Amino acid sequence: MSGTDIKYSFGLWTVGWQAQDPFGDATRTALDPAESVRKLADIGAWGFTFHDNDVFPFDADDADRRARIDSVKKAADETGLVIEMVTTNTFTHPMFKDGAFTSNNRGVRRFGLRKILRNVDLAAELGAQTFVMWGGREGVEYDNSKDLHAAHARYAEGIDTVAAYIKDRGYDIRIALEPKPNEPRGDIFLPSIGHALALIATLDNGDIVGLNPETGHEQMATLNYTHGLALALYAGKLFHIDLNGQHGPKYDQDLVFGHGDLLSAFFTVDMLENGFPNGGPRYEGARHFDYKPSRTEGPDGVWDSARANIETYTLLAKKSSEYRADPEVQKAFEHAGIFELGESTLAEGETFEQFLADPSTREEFDVDAAAEREYGLVALHQLALKHLIG
Ligand code: GCO
Ligand code: MN
Ligand code: MN
Ligand code: MN
Repeated sequence: MSGTDIKYSFGLWTVGWQAQDPFGDATRTALDPAESVRKLADIGAWGFTFHDNDVFPFDADDADRRARIDSVKKAADETGLVIEMVTTNTFTHPMFKDGAFTSNNRGVRRFGLRKILRNVDLAAELGAQTFVMWGGREGVEYDNSKDLHAAHARYAEGIDTVAAYIKDRGYDIRIALEPKPNEPRGDIFLPSIGHALALIATLDNGDIVGLNPETGHEQMATLNYTHGLALALYAGKLFHIDLNGQHGPKYDQDLVFGHGDLLSAFFTVDMLENGFPNGGPRYEGARHFDYKPSRTEGPDGVWDSARANIETYTLLAKKSSEYRADPEVQKAFEHAGIFELGESTLAEGETFEQFLADPSTREEFDVDAAAEREYGLVALHQLALKHLIG
């Protein structure tokens, strides 16, 4: 893909964040969501996403809710922006302080489920094909706060019920779980991509449940985002992505994409845009940004920062495709054995007997030569760096 035909998308809560934090009040006034949609179209976005309560308040009556949805829908129709994903806020209202699907209070769990199902109906009405579930309050500060087996069972039950509802109604929607290690809870359930994959494998309706991994969330846990995306792709579960920037294990920074670990961002884009060197599954969905304009920024800074996400990604897409096309890089790939890794270890149809009888797997294998082999990995990485900053 070239920079101009990449499908960029933003959450309305990103540019709409008023920058209140635990230590200070909002530094910006509220934006009209429909106005944000028009601005996003102006800066080159292809689509947008939202939580129910980014568009209408928690306590909106039916008429107010409908009017606000229609206003956003109108802006989408007029600009041609696609509503590609919808998600539900089950974390802001104080009732969710102990979780939604995993609250110890069964009434809260049932209310949370109802809120989510109502929003699934809205997602279907608006044509969104992905429904993200970020369990921000699903977790604890203290390990004795919950029966941890029951909590995971209730979490799985909640997700499975939503998936079953989607199938029952015949909606063309897939669920994408968003892992995060902590914040706002001390420990959030499903803290990483791997944890989420393990829970999905236990679901009855797990075929329509996948992942929405966020750059910063994996990096908060000192994990490698690009590796996590690769595993999700391998498992057929990369349904959506939240791109942003983070400087290692600290609070959730939600910086502009590339404003954290730039080399990691380069390899994320390289994988998304250019695929695996030996082929394999590709992510075809929106390049979705979930960042926060820093608290220092005013109305201009909000849109400068939104534009910065698109600009950074587009630049990295260009640089990474030049990197891949560079014959020196391809030679270094060859030398490093990257294409050899694409070959299966056993030959096609090879039996245990044939394998065990093959002297090259032991008797004749030159272990000293293997130990001495140079892979040229630092030189290869330097080539990537030169493409990135050159
Ligand atoms: C966070 C999360 C959220 C979710 C959003 C979508 O604040 O850490 O990333 O921004 O992505 O709630 O469900
Ligand atoms: Mn985040
Ligand atoms: Mn966030
Ligand atoms: Mn996110």
